[in-house]
Amino acid sequence: MKFFIKSYGCQMNLYDSQRIEDLLLSYNHEKVNSPEQANLLIFNTCSIREKADEKLFSDLGRAKLLKNQNKGKEFVIAVMGCVAQSRCEDIKSKHPYVDIILGPQEVQNMQECIMKVLNNQITTTLALTDFKSKNKFEVFNKNEIRDRLVSEYLTIQEGCDNFCTYCVVPYTRGREFSRSVQEIIVEAKNLVSRGCKEITLLGQNVNSYNGVGDDGMPRRLSILLEELASISGLSRLRYTTSHPKDIDENIGKAHRDIPILMPFLHLPVQSGSNEILRRMNRKYDREKYFDVIDMLRSYRPDIAFSSDFIVGFPGETENDFEDTLDLIKRVGYSQAYSFKYSPRPHTPAAKMDSQVEESVKSSRLRILQDLLNFQQRDFNKMFIGKMAQVLFVKEGRDSGQLSGRDEYFQAVSVMADKSQIGSVVEVKIVDAASHSLIGELK
Ligand code: 5AD
Ligand code: SF4
Repeated sequence: MKFFIKSYGCQMNLYDSQRIEDLLLSYNHEKVNSPEQANLLIFNTCSIREKADEKLFSDLGRAKLLKNQNKGKEFVIAVMGCVAQSRCEDIKSKHPYVDIILGPQEVQNMQECIMKVLNNQITTTLALTDFKSKNKFEVFNKNEIRDRLVSEYLTIQEGCDNFCTYCVVPYTRGREFSRSVQEIIVEAKNLVSRGCKEITLLGQNVNSYNGVGDDGMPRRLSILLEELASISGLSRLRYTTSHPKDIDENIGKAHRDIPILMPFLHLPVQSGSNEILRRMNRKYDREKYFDVIDMLRSYRPDIAFSSDFIVGFPGETENDFEDTLDLIKRVGYSQAYSFKYSPRPHTPAAKMDSQVEESVKSSRLRILQDLLNFQQRDFNKMFIGKMAQVLFVKEGRDSGQLSGRDEYFQAVSVMADKSQIGSVVEVKIVDAASHSLIGELK
């Protein structure tokens, strides 16, 4: 079949979409570049906030029209990922033209489901998550990895056991599970042999990684990073996402001792108020967060931080919000993501009293983002006139331009020849906007 995959949401979804692509190619399906050219439409969905859910349902409307235009011909619509998991019954009853619904830990069954649909064994295949992550990676591993980029993701861990009270992830991706060191090393070497220079390890909470080593004993993230760093041809390592409660000194030491581990850390704090952190079930307070930041800076003084923030969590007062602004000023972020709290199905926070009004959420978000943008601009401006090590990843927007990232994960655009893609090059930063830098070759 001719397939088109649309991926929503986080990098873990992008990773799953790539693996599904490898899987379908191995069964001789053909990848096409638009839904109109396809007869197999796959939506890999995200459920983290309500808006992400809504996107799927508007895209499904268009998919239904395409299916109607192709009446009498083979045409399959599949919904996979977190919305497939959390809104399965809704999709089944309100969108009966959807043929396949697969939760995040069942996506490896895609080919079987397609065959069942084509053989008319069933109209809608339901394969709800029973959280068999291991199975998923075993299937994925059998497929050849194709056409890899300079910078790639590698999922080392699935699911989450933390149950932050706002978050739907533990209900959609299931319990935490770490892949073995061996499995990860094999996949990383495979990526590097296909031209990948930078690997970002992925997981909902990579700092609690505990995959087994050769002796069957669990290994920490810092040990895994050490092992990956010895792969020849790999220029850079990153990891995301981290939970402040699980960062220990070993990670600080890894940032000091592993030259290819980049000095940048996404360390979501969510709120600067101890009361809100408690209600979020984050298991740390602001003092502990400051300690973690200080510890990391003591090992790697130039390390840059990014974070996620939620404004308008139930019960958030003006004082709580002020605490968040104060925390931002004290830490100083190089970049950040921020969101209005969005009630999610099954989560405890959705049922809490004192939900914050939409207009209050909006105005707090504006104030918070102004401060974060200001910090990011300041951070970027510091680099003007300095040299930066840039890994060129792809062609830039303007002709003759390449786009890459420096060590601190800032986007950098430079006029340079295409042959430099994949190389780490020293460039002089000549200008800075709020979200990117402009560099020149020496
Ligand atoms: N509402 C708003 N933001 C959320 N996030 C997770 N759940 C919600 C929610 N219900 C944010 C958190 C998390 C990021 C991936 O998404 O900040 O770190
Ligand atoms: Fe969600 Fe918290 Fe797990 Fe992150 S750590 S995925 S926010 S439950």
